[in-house]
Amino acid sequence: MKRSQLFIISLVALGLSGCDQSSKAFSLPPGDMAQGEQVFMDMQCLSCHILDGYERPEGEWELSVALGGKGKSLKTYGELVTSVINPSHKLAKGHDMSSIQVDGKSVMPVYNDVMTVSELVDLVTFLESKYELEPYDPTIYNLHH
Ligand code: HEC
Repeated sequence: MKRSQLFIISLVALGLSGCDQSSKAFSLPPGDMAQGEQVFMDMQCLSCHILDGYERPEGEWELSVALGGKGKSLKTYGELVTSVINPSHKLAKGHDMSSIQVDGKSVMPVYNDVMTVSELVDLVTFLESKYELEPYDPTIYNLHH
């Protein structure tokens, strides 16, 4: 067999295995929704966020960034995860910029040093249930270039 034929066969094989893109998309393992709700309460996310069905703690809150629902700034699972572990990556749309960021950095705390991966998994499972997100749309690389 010529090398060029081998090359074509391997391209086809790659193309076929690429059919199941969902297995390549980034996603955390399934978590526990009730535990996630607990993390959400314990970490006091409600001090800056509003979420349907959850009462905010006593006090005066300067921030009321809405979470959940459809058609808000978050569209995909990937964006949801990113907004928790890297809040400044993309700032939520539709807010007064002066209240949600300082020097381009989100005022949302970074929890990465205090939140375990299991807590993150549970939290994201909980949050995901509050959104209508589009399925993850993985990048498909064009093998012919
Ligand atoms: C000190 C205030 C503050 C706290 C506490 C806070 N956040 Fe945020 N959060 C923000 C602000 C401000 C934004 C909007 C700017 C941005 O996108 O980072 C935001 C954005 C988000 C977004 C993206 C919303 C969107 O529509 O793009 C998610 C999801 C989120 N926070 C989840 C959480 C969770 C979960 C917690 C608790 C673990 C939490 N936040 C705690 C201030 C906070």
